[in-house]
Amino acid sequence: MKANSRRDNKLAFNEVADVYDGARPGIPHRLVTFLVRIAGLAPGDQVLEVGAGSGQLTRPLRAAGLEVTALEPGDRLRALLARHTADAPGITVTGGFFEDCTAPDGSFAAVVSANAWQWIDPAVSYAKAAGLLRPGGHLALVWNFPIAADWALQRALNEALAGDYPDAVRDPDTHLPGIEARVGEGRAELAASGRFEEPWWQFSTDILTLTPDAYCDLLLSYTNAVVLDDAARADLFHRVRAALTAHGAGSVTMDNVLYAVIARKADQ
Ligand SMILES: C[S@@+](CC[C@H](N)C(=O)[O-])C[C@H]1O[C@@H](n2cnc3c(N)ncnc32)[C@H](O)[C@@H]1O
Repeated sequence: MKANSRRDNKLAFNEVADVYDGARPGIPHRLVTFLVRIAGLAPGDQVLEVGAGSGQLTRPLRAAGLEVTALEPGDRLRALLARHTADAPGITVTGGFFEDCTAPDGSFAAVVSANAWQWIDPAVSYAKAAGLLRPGGHLALVWNFPIAADWALQRALNEALAGDYPDAVRDPDTHLPGIEARVGEGRAELAASGRFEEPWWQFSTDILTLTPDAYCDLLLSYTNAVVLDDAARADLFHRVRAALTAHGAGSVTMDNVLYAVIARKADQ
């Protein structure tokens, strides 16, 4: 996905770390298995994970046998990440921004990131990743984009969301084309860096089944809800809950569209 032009809110997730931890879906193991295969990784390989949050990608990376340095600048998220991975040797949790990472050049077989790469300045991110990678190493990036599977429900939610939280409005007819456009711009950004070969990329979809509370927490875990003032946020979630109740939705089924892109470092 293309880098955000405004990155001021990049630490907003840390403000709602507990909600984030409970609400955000983990990256599926099957996708990580795929990434490992495409990137030619082997158990014991060193990988750097950028923007690890509370471990949504970290744990499946470790389960694949990789040695993970998990970089997370938010102190509350990092504390949760450390707690969740305390019993997992092979995961090193560290703080700071990727831009400031001081690991020696060539340290990693892969630089990986889920839902975080867009928060890093593209003038820095690709060159920095290429420097940290060993020859033939890979950059592997993942995002997920949930949308209510029932389009009538999504449209009712859109009405509740539109005023205060337009970024959470999902037009079922343009959801996938919209994602395709944004990730296409991201691949253009990657190509323009000149540091990586033509990437491999893939879309896939999982199903998430959420309670109304879990759906509200998912909304709250995104920056646009975090930055609302308390009154606006309370009013918004009142409207969202009313839309869920009116629709008779005891649970919310979401199509969770996953996008993965993997690029080999260009030979010099
Ligand atoms: C949307 S969260 C993704 C967390 C987790 N990987 C996931 O998939 O749910 C983005 C994460 O990137 C981190 N982040 C933001 N800017 C960063 C930077 N410049 N360097 C490293 N991490 C950054 C944030 O603290 C946050 O945890």
